[in-house]
Amino acid sequence: MTHTMKALLLGRGPEWILDDVPVPTPGPGEVLIRNRASATNNADLPMLDEADPTHGGTGKESIAGFEYAGEIAAVGHGAGDWKVGDPVMGTFPASFAAYLVADHRFVLPRPQHLGPETACALPTALLTEFGALTVAEFRAGQCVLITGASTGIGMIGIQIANALGASKVIATTRSTEKADRLGELGADTVIVTATGTDLARAVLTATGDQGVDVVLDHVAGDTFAACLPATALDGRVVNIGRLAGPASTIDLDILSFRHLTVHGVSFGFSREWETVPILEGLRADVLPAVDRGEIASVVDTVLSVEQYREAADRLRSGKAVGKVVLTFA
Ligand SMILES: NC(=O)c1ccc[n+]([C@@H]2O[C@H](COP(=O)([O-])OP(=O)(O)OC[C@H]3O[C@@H](n4cnc5c(N)ncnc54)[C@H](OP(=O)(O)O)[C@@H]3O)[C@@H](O)[C@H]2O)c1
Repeated sequence: MTHTMKALLLGRGPEWILDDVPVPTPGPGEVLIRNRASATNNADLPMLDEADPTHGGTGKESIAGFEYAGEIAAVGHGAGDWKVGDPVMGTFPASFAAYLVADHRFVLPRPQHLGPETACALPTALLTEFGALTVAEFRAGQCVLITGASTGIGMIGIQIANALGASKVIATTRSTEKADRLGELGADTVIVTATGTDLARAVLTATGDQGVDVVLDHVAGDTFAACLPATALDGRVVNIGRLAGPASTIDLDILSFRHLTVHGVSFGFSREWETVPILEGLRADVLPAVDRGEIASVVDTVLSVEQYREAADRLRSGKAVGKVVLTFA
């Protein structure tokens, strides 16, 4: 096996840098994965900025990225039942490289019908959206509101909620062009938001004034505040993303009188006590729906890793519908 590999590095400047670095070795409990394709995430951009030494960032060099799909290339001691050649996918740090090592408990089997370029666009969304539904104690028959549903992860959230038996999925986007796509993915009602939209009123109208049982909020800001009066008595609101900014002014009367529960989630790799059980639930309850084709990735663009500047531009544009994917030949 080769000793060096192509990887996209953070920490040398305002952009990723493609360089040759040593192939890592799996330690106890870890597997080495031959990565064929990686999907980008919104969070990759702030991480670039935080590490950029030319604009006050840390200058700490590391391999970028989280999502990958490929096959097992080597198995460390005590790394479960994985075998060399098993097709896999997952979300784990340092994935923008031809090889990565990962804790074997975080690795997901890659369904036979999914090639790496489509499979790599699923794991972060599967973990985050299923994790948020789990935290919200979602049950079949409940109604779900997904704000910022056109995000890469939100589009998978629509499909998971439906696969798990949601009675109704309401989705928001700011873009009329993306609204039809959300309907095709399974949203029963799509609300196109603009300045002045009364989101709570629109959701109450769509639910016969009952409100939704669960909110998956990717937007925050004023949208988060508007979700509270749109939620049914004893409902649960989960904040996942802060695309419109982290501050929100909420009406605590609404929180109290509607008996709402608010959760924040950030599914990190250091909180394995939280993430590993969610991944186990995902394998049991959601991957069968991926196998059946009920949950499919949404890919905007596929580029080779050498085209990383184009990938960053596409991600920054906000015009991508679905994931920007980088392949590692
Ligand atoms: N908690 C976790 O564990 C976790 C995990 C993954 C991601 N996240 C967070 O979830 C969010 C989505 O991530 P992603 O990678 O899926 O995003 P993404 O695909 O890059 O989302 C892009 C879309 O977000 C929408 N958007 C952007 N700015 C907005 C604003 N100010 N208000 C409303 N919508 C806005 C736009 O859709 P429209 O033009 O259609 O409105 C845009 O097309 C991010 O905030 C990310 O940090 C959290």
